[in-house]
Amino acid sequence: MRLAILASGRGSNLLAILEAIARGELDATVVGVFSDRRAAPALVHARNAGIRAQSLAPREFASRTDFDEHLFSLVDAVQPDLIVCAGYMRLISDPAVAARTGRMINIHPSLLPEFKGLRTHQQALDAGASVHGASVHFVTSELDGGPVITQVRVPVERGDDAATLAERVLQREHPLLVATLRELAGGRIAWIDHGVHFNGHPLAAPLQL
Ligand code: GAR
Repeated sequence: MRLAILASGRGSNLLAILEAIARGELDATVVGVFSDRRAAPALVHARNAGIRAQSLAPREFASRTDFDEHLFSLVDAVQPDLIVCAGYMRLISDPAVAARTGRMINIHPSLLPEFKGLRTHQQALDAGASVHGASVHFVTSELDGGPVITQVRVPVERGDDAATLAERVLQREHPLLVATLRELAGGRIAWIDHGVHFNGHPLAAPLQL
């Protein structure tokens, strides 16, 4: 499975993917890493691994649609089977999403549909949640609203602040994303007829990992 990764920052999820591939635990190839931030450490991780890494600056484009047309023309050029948003923090325009429905996933740091958008760990703390977590979902035009494939639950502990909770969730995001990619690469999870299928049947609820 040929993977294109979109990342805006640190790139720890990208590193987790690269390490899983190197250990022989994921049958995939990262064929390109793309960013909306020239200084994203994720680009450095990619280049260190000998992977094509490209960034575009949104301010150099007239509109979000214009930016996405250019970005996704770079992505399409590496012919990915799947596009993985791994800490990609920019909204993607509807036409770019619509053209790739079922071929683009995102990892989000909450138990969707709870706590969409930004500052999810603070949202969970403010809501008094005792369990938080992360989700991997197919990207649709609704922000963080596409069908959820897999989730991992992470306890909120007494004394947590947004930083300690984010760190505990992040440690679980990495295996979650790798396991989800393994299911997709193995064909056990697939996008068929506008929805997620698992082992040939519509997925009734997210898989809990
Ligand atoms: C991760 O926690 C990811 O779930 C989150 O950004 C972080 C990126 O970390 N993504 C979102 O919030 C998307 N809305 P990383 O750059 O180290 O992989």
